[in-house]
Amino acid sequence: MGSLKNDENPQLQTSKVSYEPLLYVNGVRRVLPDGLAHLTLLEYLRAKLIMGHSTFFGAKGIGLTGTKLGCGEGGCGACTVMVSSYDEKSRKCFLKMFFQTLCYQCLLSTSIFCRRNACDYSGRIGKLQESLYICALNMKSLQESMAQAHGSQCGFCTPGFVMSMYALLRSSQTPPSEEQIEECLAGNLCRCTGYRPIVDAFRVFAKTNDMLYTGISSVSPEEAKSICPSTGKPCSCNSNNVNDKCVVGDNRYKATSYDEVDGTKYTEKELIFPPELLLRTATPLSLTGFGGLMWYRPLTLQHALDLKAKYPDAKLIVGNSEVGIEMRLKRLQYRVLVSVTHVPELNVLNVKDDGLEIGAAVRLSDLLSVLRKVVTERDVHETSSCRALIEQLKWFAGTQIRNAASIGGNICTASPISDLNPLWMAVGANFRIIDSKGNSRTTLAENFFLGYRKVDLASSEILLSVFLPWNKRFEYVKEFKQSHRRDDDIAIVNAGLRIHLQETSEIWVVADASIAYGGVAPCSLSAKKTKDFLIGKVWDQNLLQDALKVLQNDIILKEDAPGGMVEFRKSLTLSFFFKFFLWVSHQLDGVKESIPASHLSAMQPVHRPTITGSQDYEIMKHGTSVGSPEVHLSAKLQVTGEAEYADDIQLPLNGLHAALVLSRKPHARILSIDGSEAMSSPGFVGLFLAKDVPADNKIGPVVYDEELFATDYVTCVGQVIGVVVADTHENAKTAARKVNVKYEDLPAILSIKEAINAGSFHPNTEKCLIKGDVDQCFQSGQCDRIIEGEVHIGGQEHFYLEPHSSLVWTLDGGNEVHMISST
Ligand SMILES: Cc1cc2nc3c(=O)[nH]c(=O)nc-3n(C[C@H](O)[C@H](O)[C@H](O)COP(=O)(O)OP(=O)(O)OC[C@H]3O[C@@H](n4cnc5c(N)ncnc54)[C@H](O)[C@@H]3O)c2cc1C
Ligand code: FES
Repeated sequence: MGSLKNDENPQLQTSKVSYEPLLYVNGVRRVLPDGLAHLTLLEYLRAKLIMGHSTFFGAKGIGLTGTKLGCGEGGCGACTVMVSSYDEKSRKCFLKMFFQTLCYQCLLSTSIFCRRNACDYSGRIGKLQESLYICALNMKSLQESMAQAHGSQCGFCTPGFVMSMYALLRSSQTPPSEEQIEECLAGNLCRCTGYRPIVDAFRVFAKTNDMLYTGISSVSPEEAKSICPSTGKPCSCNSNNVNDKCVVGDNRYKATSYDEVDGTKYTEKELIFPPELLLRTATPLSLTGFGGLMWYRPLTLQHALDLKAKYPDAKLIVGNSEVGIEMRLKRLQYRVLVSVTHVPELNVLNVKDDGLEIGAAVRLSDLLSVLRKVVTERDVHETSSCRALIEQLKWFAGTQIRNAASIGGNICTASPISDLNPLWMAVGANFRIIDSKGNSRTTLAENFFLGYRKVDLASSEILLSVFLPWNKRFEYVKEFKQSHRRDDDIAIVNAGLRIHLQETSEIWVVADASIAYGGVAPCSLSAKKTKDFLIGKVWDQNLLQDALKVLQNDIILKEDAPGGMVEFRKSLTLSFFFKFFLWVSHQLDGVKESIPASHLSAMQPVHRPTITGSQDYEIMKHGTSVGSPEVHLSAKLQVTGEAEYADDIQLPLNGLHAALVLSRKPHARILSIDGSEAMSSPGFVGLFLAKDVPADNKIGPVVYDEELFATDYVTCVGQVIGVVVADTHENAKTAARKVNVKYEDLPAILSIKEAINAGSFHPNTEKCLIKGDVDQCFQSGQCDRIIEGEVHIGGQEHFYLEPHSSLVWTLDGGNEVHMISST
């Protein structure tokens, strides 16, 4: 056991705690008022007036609604902002893109660039055409490029895309590659435009033609005249030859170099950081928020530990990507939050003789950079674990999350599908833990995960650091992850596998092994029986078959295991091991010869080439615009963030918010609805049910066969029963949850199979598509192959971007009703 000195901490004295956190937004200095620690950065940026609680009623927000609220959990990128921070050691300014729905608190004392709402772009498009695609540091070029390439349709995701690309270009020392551009956009979702025109819009900034950036060309000057909007490569789009493969009706895509604009090379550009923040000495911060929330930002480990001693239930936060979701979406209440982003001991990244020491607050993107450096500097055999971590991090969330989320946060959340925890277990990582008295201990990652989101940490303890040992000779580590889509998706099953082999008498014997899986149990799980079985065995084809049999009985998934897809998940555990066996064998002399050629593809790493696509069309112009590709009228507003959506409209001071009372039952009779608890909820104004609907409660697009508010029965979870109105949206949602609906459960039909069995169909809706005589075809004996089976296709939930919202106001004493609604 080690120990840290536990002096009386002077920083706990409130007199030393600053109450003036500063923020620069688009170059404008902002002092954050106390009382808002519950807000997300997005809420602060978007609101003109922050309303709702007496202590900060009417506090000023900024009203920058160009930054959007989409998913609210870090998955869509609509809320992307660029944040710059200054590194004291290197004396350099760094820019990163962040998601901001959850991390208001984490960004204090930084400088933020978000989409300008009142941007001077509008009205100047004509003038700007000449400089299109020229200056990568100029956001206007990006915005224009996006508009000209038809990269926005509904436009809701557009500001997020522009910010992501801007952050990449602004922080790149060299022109980005096409791969880097696609990687940087992986955390941004679009629901209607499609990605091709978006990628096309940004691809023109990629390093496809050196001359554009350095004056040294790989293509002839003639060829380099213009850049194709579809391929991003020099081509002859600008010729008026309508038979060309890619046809663009004007000469917008001129190849011009950034150098030509202001003579500055990529490598020489200076990043701006507000001088006031450079000169400011960091102070510990303490802020309060709604509902008695206390938020601290200590600057020393001792202060953080003292806070933990004082408030044992305090939640440590770094990226807030998990805690934010718990508090906002799962409605968990934490009274004390301690942001440890600035504690030096938690931010170490030390390359040592025996391994890498990684502070618990180190962000995933910083770890990735160091790992990439380490693999170039150390012996190859030492860095097998590093390479496995690099590969796994590649498929881990979007850049915005990786820039915010920490190693410690991922470990301590102990998600059963964490991508890194099985790897920490497999590589033999050690976790260093420290308690509020300064006592420290270490534990193997393998022993740290105890159950569903349960880890070996007492309430007085925090995770200090992770130690990743270098690999020995003939020690091999590999990562695996299977998810629905490659980028930015959570795993169905993932794994970390390690084997250490020793050569004796020209055969390879297993000296040590470690096999850990995620997505197969309530927490990351070691295949201990398989490990014990492997140790001491000869690594050859026979071992593979025997090991697979042991593994099959080692990782057991019950038929009703949460997450479903049991057979598929079981097969993944085996196939990962199979691939690992092939991969390791391929590295070894003597064994690789025995691998059949047909198996070799199983160990190929996934490589997805960059997206290419082109749209061929002929320009047949009729009149002013018919038949030719025109930038649509809203594009200018959308790419600058000026387009106004229902959610962007600022409410009048006395405006009220509504939240729906939703059914929690799939099929039930409503016995009673009691609104008394809701009525005593803060800010409550009114509860409206079916009986309060003045006109007909029956609605429907064509046939009025649905109820606006359910009266006697509910037939699905989420069916609307009523609406609560309150002074703020938060208060309305809280009160709506307090409406007590009593139900009598009725049998629910939840699958097609159950519906068939119960004969439960809407009448006259049977549809059958038949071509030819199917029965005769099967019986004829002339079919090459007959494949029989059943296919079940579940519903796919839409990943919502624009929030469903409406703004309603009345005039003339209620005789005239105005309404703005999202589509
Ligand atoms: C959109 C999205 C995509 C994601 N994709 C992936 C993915 O592909 N793969 C994957 O594995 N995960 C994924 N995650 C999960 C993500 O990795 C974690 O949310 C993140 O790593 C948590 O880090 P954080 O710093 O934001 O944690 P926070 O939210 O700040 O904290 C999380 C938890 O850890 C505790 N904690 C933090 N630091 C310490 C410490 N030093 N000591 C003790 N406790 C501590 C906190 O108290 C809290 O309980 C995703 C999350 C989101 C929101
Ligand atoms: S990622 Fe922030 S709203 Fe979706």
